[in-house]
Amino acid sequence: MLHRIHEAASYLRSLPGLAPAAGIVLGTGLGGLTKNITNQTVIPYNDIPGFPTTTVEGHSGNLIFGRLSGIPVVAMQGRFHYYEGYSMEQVTLPIRVLKMIGIKQLFLSNAAGGINPSFSVGDLMVIRDHINFFPESPLRGPNVEELGPRFPDMSEPYDRKLVGLAHQTAEKLGFTIQEGVYVGNPGPSFETPAEYLHYRIIGGDAIGMSTIPEVIVARHMDLPVLGVSVITNVSIPGSFDKNTHEDVQEAASRAGSRLIALFSGLLPVSPYSPSFA
Ligand code: HPA
Repeated sequence: MLHRIHEAASYLRSLPGLAPAAGIVLGTGLGGLTKNITNQTVIPYNDIPGFPTTTVEGHSGNLIFGRLSGIPVVAMQGRFHYYEGYSMEQVTLPIRVLKMIGIKQLFLSNAAGGINPSFSVGDLMVIRDHINFFPESPLRGPNVEELGPRFPDMSEPYDRKLVGLAHQTAEKLGFTIQEGVYVGNPGPSFETPAEYLHYRIIGGDAIGMSTIPEVIVARHMDLPVLGVSVITNVSIPGSFDKNTHEDVQEAASRAGSRLIALFSGLLPVSPYSPSFA
């Protein structure tokens, strides 16, 4: 694994002028937000040695380097999902690589189903904490001390300062955001009514099929994380009909302008951003 991480990182480091200070992962339906990044350099995943290859038709897979609010960033346009058949190592390798090329903070986004009855479709939810239902950890196996400790602390998986700043930034922009607990399920089937109820009872506010593996490796490497879910469906047992991927994509892209405004507004005030911007 380490060999592939180094291979990808040294390739990206060999390209001139790319020195990102923040990493951004764009979830389902949110890939179009890269248009807000200026001075772009686009690197297809398939050009990066050591990176997992993307096979799914119509699934864009690019690293987009450039600037957002003046801050040098790298955005992942498309992520690797566990349900696609990638190993946990493949799902999380890009996060390892981004850390290795210098990012100091990671902004993750995803599309998620709302299970808190006070949520509405289109809401943004800043993630305060998560509950993990993936069947394996990306850290399973021999620990690579060079990357992080055997037993990483998870007392603050999502950076509290960034959560606070997310609320302040949204307020300045004129909207409010929800805050809550993200439940991570491997998918790809959506949850049954009884499962949604179960995840609500145990303390979840939203549920999705990604993010948690990436957060685990980021925290393993002591990288501060902000996570934001776009609520694409509210699945309260008895009050929802059917869930479809198309509806999820459409709801996510409708909420996308607020998500990118939030990330753009937050970056310059983040304590982990360079102060020269
Ligand atoms: N469940 C799981 N993943 C999702 C959902 C959901 O209801 N909505 C968007 N991603």
